[in-house]
This record gives sequence, structure tokens and C-alpha cells, in this order.
Amino acid sequence: MSIDTGIHVAYLVASICFVIALKGLSGPKTARGGNLIGAAGMLIAIGMTFATPGLSRFGLMAGAMVIGVAIGFPAARLVKMTAMPQMVAAFNGVGGGAAAIIAVAEFVKASPGSLAVYQVVEVLFGVIVGSVSFAGSIIAFAKLQELMTGRPITYAGQQLLNGLVGAGILGLSVAACVDPHNWLIAVIGILGLLFGVAFVLPIGGADVPVLISLLNSFTGLAVAASGFVLNSVVLVIAGTLVGASGTLLTRMMSAAMGRSLPNILFSAFGSVVTATGGAEGAEGRTVRSASAEDIAVLLAYSQKVIIVPGYGLAVAQAQHTVRELAELLEARGVDVFYAIHPVAGRMPGHMNVLLAEANVPYDELKEMDEANPEFQTADVALVIGANDVVNPAAKNSPGSPIYGMPILAVDEAHNVVFLKRSMRPGFAGIDNELLFDPKTTLLFGDAKDSLTKLVAAVKAL
Ligand code: TAP
Repeated sequence: MSIDTGIHVAYLVASICFVIALKGLSGPKTARGGNLIGAAGMLIAIGMTFATPGLSRFGLMAGAMVIGVAIGFPAARLVKMTAMPQMVAAFNGVGGGAAAIIAVAEFVKASPGSLAVYQVVEVLFGVIVGSVSFAGSIIAFAKLQELMTGRPITYAGQQLLNGLVGAGILGLSVAACVDPHNWLIAVIGILGLLFGVAFVLPIGGADVPVLISLLNSFTGLAVAASGFVLNSVVLVIAGTLVGASGTLLTRMMSAAMGRSLPNILFSAFGSVVTATGGAEGAEGRTVRSASAEDIAVLLAYSQKVIIVPGYGLAVAQAQHTVRELAELLEARGVDVFYAIHPVAGRMPGHMNVLLAEANVPYDELKEMDEANPEFQTADVALVIGANDVVNPAAKNSPGSPIYGMPILAVDEAHNVVFLKRSMRPGFAGIDNELLFDPKTTLLFGDAKDSLTKLVAAVKAL
């Protein structure tokens, strides 16, 4: 077998690894293995690239890899689960930027007039989509990292300006196909960056994770375009897989939020403060709060308890304590499981990853469709740091911004217990009527502190 054939076979093996990795990543039990298989595929692809005959500048490539590993490895090890979306945004932006730079470099390298129109189109696609993804991801990162306001930034004539930049990109791209020049590609790249910024500014913080998934699919497409430019089949396959899976994930996230993608991208959701919010929202209305001891009695003498984790559980890092409580209850003969909403937390799979970290058995995690029929027969729904994903306004209030979002049917349980710090609303900024329901009890405080108290109180029974 010639070296060329060997490299192609290895690329094929790497591509198969990527497909198997995606399959593995689709379920909590197989996700860890899937991740390792994907990493192995990437290692094969990188190794084979170094084996390509006629390759030069090994030092430069190795240096770039050392810098990448020095930044990426500690960043991934140290990142908190709650900061994961912004890390994905940053890594995604770098990928998009790299794809754009590769396209520009290949264009500049080619002798003038030597590229066929289809090759110029490949370059343009990489430059435009890559630069939009790079700039958009940087703004998404800044919003989530609170380096700038997370609220939608809107101004008069915004849509018109965005439309003009888009039309400019399109017009110059046609000109570049007819008469390609370096300066045209440069201007198109700059307009792409501008468009990326302008496109993301009006999107509110709560919607940014969906946007990141969309930008991720853009980066995949830009990488696939680089694959065409570089004549690299493995890049085409890897980029297409990222593009396709990112698009599917974006659709699934939008559906789980009960909103259409255009609504998420163009409605500036959250620019108006929709909630009466905070302590003022509760003014004049009574809520029932209880001590940890009282709630421990309620839980310990129940037959069925459904735990509903949300963003606050991640903030409080209370995953280990909740597992301890669940085990104590199970030891007393209580039937306990976790109901997982698809957009609980701030990123896809957030709760699954968090609970897996605490070794919660996978068979105790039930998806929304499986969990919802169970609430009617549950003695207690224990809601820990979740709000929007259990808010009945999504079913009952046609005027509510979250109307239509599928929710966990916590309101159907015999008793509802909320562990949260205050009466503040969740990410969507919408009050939750369930907090005022007579069957609801609140235990105010940080979720980890409250769970620690509950564990002690159940042990003392
Ligand atoms: P949220 O509705 O944001 O509610 C989180 C709750 O946790 C708040 O009510 C907050 O109340 C409480 N909390 C915060 N820190 C806490 C702590 N240390 N201890 C105890 N409680 C704490 O969360 P959710 O129900 O998980 O819903 C997720 C939201 O994010 C949805 O609106 C969803 O659309 C949005 N979103 C999710 C995704 C993905 S993919 N997951 C993507 C985009 C958008 P206090 O401040 O009173 O404690």
C-alpha cells in the first residue's frame, strides 16, 4: 500500500470514529466513550497530516499545537460547569476564524486568475461563514462572561443596517467571482466580521446558548469549505458532521424552548423587562415557606419523590448533596428519580453532565416525556434551582413570552417544594405562579446549604 493510500485509509478510519463519537454523545451512558473515540479519531487525523509527503514547516505546526494545548487543556480542565457555554463559544470562534484564515491564505497563494469560479466560491464561503462565526462567537462569549450587557442591544434602523451589510457581502462576492482580487476578499472578510457582531448584538443572554449552537454549525460549514479548498476529504467530512449536528441541536433547543429559530434570532427576547420580578413581584402576596426539618418529614414519609434540577443546582454545585439526599430517601423505601428538562440549566445536557459527575445512576434520570405522566402520582416534586422549566405560564398564559414552551408537569404533583434563594424569576425573567400555589412550600437559601440541612434532618428522623 502506498503512503498516499495509507493516509486515505487512516482518514477514513478517523471519519468513522467521528460518526461513532456522535452516536455515543447522544446518550449519557455512552457519552464518555463517544468523546474518547472522537478524540482518537482526531489524533489519527492529525498524525496522518504530519505524515503527508512533501509537508514542510514542521516547527511552525508543532509550535502552534503546543500553544493550542497549553491554552486549551487547562481551560477545559478548570472551567466551571456554569461557564461551559462561553468556553464553547470561545473555542468555536477560534475554529471559525481558522477556517476563514485558511481560505484567505489559499486564495492569496494561488497565482492570479488560476482559480476556477467554483474554487473562488469555496474560498468566499469559508471567508464569509468563518468570519461571521468568529466575530459572532466573540460577542456571544462577551455576553455570557458578562464583559458586556447580556440584554439585547437594539437601535433604530438595525435591521436595515444588517440588511445593507449582508447585501454588500453578496454584491462584492459576485464581483469577486467575476474578477477575483485580494482586496475584494479582504473587504468581504471585514464585512463578515461586522455582520457577525451586528447579528449577535440584538440576541439576549438567555438565547445565547442557542445562538452558540447555530454558530457552531456555521463553523462546521466553514471548515467543510476549507476541506474543499485544501482538497482534504477528512476536513469536508468532519466539517459537515459539525454543521449537521449543530443544525439539529439548534432545532431541538428551539423546540424545547417552544420558540422558532427566527423568533430567537430576531425578536430581541428579554429587551423589555417582562417580569414584575424580584421581591416586588411577591409584594402583598403570600408564599408558604417551611423549615428544613418540616420538609424532611414530608420527603421521608412520601412514597414517590421526583427531583427537578435546574440552573441553581449547578450554581450551588449541589450535585453530590442531592445524590446523598436521594440515597437516604431510597434507603427509607421512597421511590426517587430525577426529571430532566431538555433546556434545564444553560446548555444541552447540563443536568446530565452535572449529575453524572456525582455518580447518580443513569436509570434514575428521566427525560421530560417519560417523567411528565409520573407527576400526577408523585407525593412531592422537589424543585432545586429550577424555575422557567416548571413555570405553568408556559401552558396557561397565552400572553406569556414562554407560552408554548414544553414544561415539566410539576404543578400536577400532590406537593411542590422549591429550593431557591429568593422570589427572583429565572433566566426568562418571568414570574412563576406556582410559587404562590397553596400546595407549594419554599425553602429559601443556597441549594447546597438547603440540601445539607435536609440531609441532616432526614438522618435525624
Ligand atoms: P432558571 O429558570 O434560570 O431558574 C434558575 C433558578 O435557580 C432561579 O429561580 C434562581 O432563583 C435559582 N438559583 C440560582 N442560584 C441558586 C443557588 N445558588 N441556590 C438555589 N437556587 C438558585 O433555570 P431553569 O429552570 O434551569 O431554566 C433554564 C433557562 O435557561 C430557561 O429559560 C431556558 O430556556 C434557558 N436556556 C437554556 C438553554 C439550555 S440548552 N439549557 C439554552 C438557552 C436558554 P434565586 O435567584 O431566587 O435563587
